[in-house]
Amino acid sequence: MKLEKDWDFDKIIDRSNTGSMKWEPSVLRMKFGQGRENLLPLWVADMDFLSPSVVRHAMEKRLAHQIYGYTMMDAEYNEALISWYQRRHQWEIKKDWILTSPGVVPATNYLVQRFTSPGDKVLIQTPVYYPFAQSIVSNGRQVLENPLKIRDGRYQMDFDDLAKKVADPRVKFAILCSPHNPVGRVWSKKELEQFGKICLENNVLIFADEIHCDLIMPGSKHICFQNICDAFAQHSITANSVSKTFNLAGLQQSSLIIPNARLRNEVSIFFETLGVGGQGSGTLFGAIATTAAYNGAEPWLDDLLVYLQENFVYLKTSLEEQLPGVKVFDLEGTYLAWADFKPLGLSPEKIIQIIEEEAGVALDHGDWFAENGAGFERFNIACPREILKKAVTAVVAGFKKYL
Ligand SMILES: Cc1ncc(COP(=O)(O)O)c(C=O)c1O
Repeated sequence: MKLEKDWDFDKIIDRSNTGSMKWEPSVLRMKFGQGRENLLPLWVADMDFLSPSVVRHAMEKRLAHQIYGYTMMDAEYNEALISWYQRRHQWEIKKDWILTSPGVVPATNYLVQRFTSPGDKVLIQTPVYYPFAQSIVSNGRQVLENPLKIRDGRYQMDFDDLAKKVADPRVKFAILCSPHNPVGRVWSKKELEQFGKICLENNVLIFADEIHCDLIMPGSKHICFQNICDAFAQHSITANSVSKTFNLAGLQQSSLIIPNARLRNEVSIFFETLGVGGQGSGTLFGAIATTAAYNGAEPWLDDLLVYLQENFVYLKTSLEEQLPGVKVFDLEGTYLAWADFKPLGLSPEKIIQIIEEEAGVALDHGDWFAENGAGFERFNIACPREILKKAVTAVVAGFKKYL
C-alpha cells in the first residue's frame, strides 16, 4: 500500500492530560522535585511526534470490532518483523526464533532472573540506560561495570577491562546496548566482534538490547549482533521493539530473537511460569501496531531520521558555539544526544541546578546513567524544532549568567 505523506514533525501536539510521563506535572515533581512541575521536558525517551497514521488506522479497525479477547496473531506479526529485518538490516530471521514479551525492560528482568542466580554479576557498559542496573540490583544480582572510555573525542569499549571483568566466574550475563543509549554510538562490526569474542571465551551469555537499531543517522550502519556469525547467534538473545522507532512505548510490546533452540525453550518455559511472554504475548494493540508499523511506516521513518539529524545539528552547533567548551558527542544512532558540560568548570550539581532552575528544562542528568556520567546531560531531541529551540535557548541563557 502506498503511504500518503500526512506527517508534519514541526507540528506541536498538546500532550497535556494524556498521562504522558514526559509531560505530566506530577511525574516531573516526583522525578525532579517540588517546584519543578512545569519544566520543559526533553527527558524520558519518547517522541513528541504523532505515530504513523498507518498504525492508528490498523488499531482503529481492530477497535471497531469491539471484542478484545485473547488473541494470537503470530503469523502476521512474525512475517512483518522478518520482512523488516530483511529489508532494513539484511538479516534473515527464522519465524521459530521469535518470542514476544511486554516490553524490553520486563524482558531484561525476566532474563536476568532466568540466566543468573542471586549474587551473580551482570556486566553493563556505563554510562548506560539506567533500568539495566535497576533490573540487576532489584533481582539481587551485582552490577559489574565495564566503563566506556572516551578516546579521540568518541566513546569506545574498553576491551582490556572487559576481558579482566568477564574472567570472574560469577559473571554469567552481559547486556550490550546497541546502539548505545546515552552516548549515541552505533557500534562497528569490529567492536561487536571483539565484544562477542571476549564474552564467548568466558561463557558469558549476551543480551543484545537493539531497541534503537532503526534510529540510525546518515553515515552510520547498525550491525545486528546475531547476524555477525552463528557462534554469536547461538550465545545471545536480541531484544527489539517498535516503541522507540515509531513512538509506541505505551503499548508494551517487544520481540525477542533467540536462534538457539535450547535457550529459546528455557526462556519459553520460564515465561510460562511467570504467565507472560512466549509466543503471542505482549498486548493485542501492541501486536497490531508492530505489524502495521513494520509493514507500512517505512517512509515515515525515513523522513523522521532526516528531521532528527537536522535537530541534532541545530543542538550541537548552538551549544558548542554559544557555550564554548561544551562538547556534544556525535550522534550516530538514537534520538538521545549526549553533552559534556564539565569543561565549563562548574560542578555537576551546579550544572543540574542551572538546567532545572535557571533554564526550566528537564533533561536526563548524566549521573543517572552511572558515576562516570556526572557533568553530562542527555537531550531527547525527538520534538518539534520550535520546542528544541526554546529549550536550547533557555539552557544557553541559564549558563551564560555564570560564565
Ligand atoms: C536501551 C533501551 N532499552 C529499553 C528501553 C525501554 O524499552 P521498553 O519500553 O520496551 O521496556 C529503552 C527506552 O528508552 C532504552 O533506551
